[in-house]
Amino acid sequence: TRTPVNVTVTGAAGQIGYALLFRIASGHLLGADVPVSLRLLEIPQGLKAAEGTAMELDDAAFPLLRGIEITDDPNTAFDGANVALLVGARPRTKGMERGDLLEANGGIFKPQGKAINDHAADDIKVLVVGNPANTNALIAQSAAPDVPADRFTAMTRLDHNRAIAQLAKRTGAQVSDIKRLTIWGNHSATQYPDIFHAEVAGKNAAEVVNDEQWLADTFIPTVAKRGAAIIEARGASSAASAASAALDHVHTWVNGTADGDWTSMGIVSDGSYGVPAGLISSFPVTTENGSFEIVQGLEINEFSRPRIDASVQELAEERDAVRALGLI
Ligand code: NAI
Repeated sequence: TRTPVNVTVTGAAGQIGYALLFRIASGHLLGADVPVSLRLLEIPQGLKAAEGTAMELDDAAFPLLRGIEITDDPNTAFDGANVALLVGARPRTKGMERGDLLEANGGIFKPQGKAINDHAADDIKVLVVGNPANTNALIAQSAAPDVPADRFTAMTRLDHNRAIAQLAKRTGAQVSDIKRLTIWGNHSATQYPDIFHAEVAGKNAAEVVNDEQWLADTFIPTVAKRGAAIIEARGASSAASAASAALDHVHTWVNGTADGDWTSMGIVSDGSYGVPAGLISSFPVTTENGSFEIVQGLEINEFSRPRIDASVQELAEERDAVRALGLI
């Protein structure tokens, strides 16, 4: 029998954690034949609820689930971790300035990055879900100098999936007919969902849609502001869809993109497409055997260029702010 893969989930007692853990244990993270051992990291106030979730995980009798450990110590939680899903974060509360938000999250992601650096397995793959996801990933990555920088990624797969769903609705296609969609930039309202290279049933998506005004005034804002629309409708932020996207992100990273398709991931820039090297920005990427590459050579048109630049500019400002705070 295979050795279980150690999967660490932070914020395990939160709403995304609750939607995520059962599907990890049933094989949706890595594959239906890969046993997993779970490490749940919570703050002390969250431990009891995490224990309750662990009881339910036991009660589901998942054949692939080989163990659950619950802790409030990052050094224990990341010990031997192969995959880390950093979900727990400090949310923005009323009246909180961006600097305060970044500082509070620095207090979480800097020590977690160090614990990953010191204790995780050599093949560690990190996905940051907790917001501000790109900059939290940058903070964790900066605190882990011994880990290759490309192992730290930020989640824009939910945005990617949202964009596919909106494009499918508009064109009457199935979601599975949509390929090569790209989210560029930050997981924030400035993100840019790009359909100019996307395909709908093999045809260029922008040509199929043929309506730049719909793109600018409906599609982009619907995707970018979907999180707020969910809160408005549900009275709580996206949880099951976020968990589903986290599973998709890691599953694609580990198992590869399909031929002729790509995905969107927040990854450390190498300077491609004018995104300053070192920023954690969303790009079109192909994955194979657990590693990924930025899709090269895409032509960026006049519609796309300023939108990508604006989101990247926001990332640069967040980086400068966390640098000024001594967090990176
Ligand atoms: P939640 O508030 O329900 O749960 C967060 C959990 O994290 C809580 O149980 C809390 O005790 C725990 N936590 C806080 N600090 C921690 C630490 N230092 N170590 C371990 N655990 C800690 O929040 P929810 O709804 O589960 O969302 C989690 C994060 O995911 C939020 O930051 C949210 O903004 C973000 N998010 C990101 C998305 C993306 O597309 N990148 C989509 C949706 C949510």
